[in-house]
Amino acid sequence: MAIDEVRDEVFVLEQNVDPEEEFDERDRFCTHVVVYNGDIAVATGRLDLEKDGKIGRVAVRKDYRQQGLGRLVMQRLEAFAMEKSAPRLWFHAQTHAVPFYEKLGYRVCSEEFLEANIPHVQMEKDC
Ligand code: COA
Repeated sequence: MAIDEVRDEVFVLEQNVDPEEEFDERDRFCTHVVVYNGDIAVATGRLDLEKDGKIGRVAVRKDYRQQGLGRLVMQRLEAFAMEKSAPRLWFHAQTHAVPFYEKLGYRVCSEEFLEANIPHVQMEKDC
């Protein structure tokens, strides 16, 4: 599946995340966004409304970064959350990506912690 290819390339191959952890049981309950360039899936992200508006798995293939696609994925997830009247959005952000999310209005609301062996913080925003 196209989404899995992006996540496999970005999280499993580039960031060494365990595939068992990457492709978890929440996937089938989430709403997924995928951006295509022609036939190629290049960016993705997911929203878990049953987990109180949890965003996750935001990934853009390396060659397509810094072109606004990550922001596009987030905006589409946010628009869907608003449609469904989610009161807030939150997620665990890799610390290197904090400035990316801050530009979208999210704020850090936790200490740093490890997830999949990668430093993370929790971030959130009211809808
Ligand atoms: N640090 C600081 N600023 C960043 C940034 C970073 N790592 N990544 C993007 N930005 C900025 C851009 O410069 C841009 O700023 P501007 O509006 O002033 O021009 C804005 O954030 C939007 O950037 P965009 O081009 O939409 O981001 P992207 O398509 O490169 O996607 C990620 C950003 C984090 C999703 C992408 O780098 C990625 O997939 N990384 C690997 C996977 C990952 O770590 N995902 C996050 C898991 S929490």
